[in-house]
Amino acid sequence: MRFLLLFSFFSSVIYGQSTFITKQEYASSLYKNPRGIGCGHCHGANGEGKVIARYVHKKKSRTFVGPQINNVDFRNFYKALTQSKKGMPRYYLTQREIEALYFYLHQNDTQEDENAQ
Ligand code: HEC
Repeated sequence: MRFLLLFSFFSSVIYGQSTFITKQEYASSLYKNPRGIGCGHCHGANGEGKVIARYVHKKKSRTFVGPQINNVDFRNFYKALTQSKKGMPRYYLTQREIEALYFYLHQNDTQEDENAQ
């Protein structure tokens, strides 16, 4: 019990100032929706798309593919991340996080193929 009190004291000191949601909300959302699965596992390191798995269904070989996402414009990118998608975890990202992800995928674009915003 003493340890718990001490722990919660320290964690509120460490996390208290920088979080914008309560610790409870954070813990709950983290439990339900861990942020651990990187986009690259399914969409490739630079969003170029990737075959996630090959399997056989009704004697036919199939593939489960993470589509290319570095060619999706911001509107659709945002939409995809704020709606439920089949085969993709729901992330509950903030607007700024989504912008950061979009920036990540487009930082090396040349002028011509850059998606107009
Ligand atoms: C477990 C695999 C998986 C992970 C992890 C994942 N995705 Fe996806 N994603 C998918 C699949 C599968 C689809 C296609 C869904 C569909 O067709 O409805 C998709 C669709 C998308 C689309 C829409 C593409 C389009 O053409 O409209 C975007 C954008 C996207 N993902 C971005 C991300 C980002 C950013 C992350 C990381 C925060 C991420 N995904 C993590 C599997 C994944």
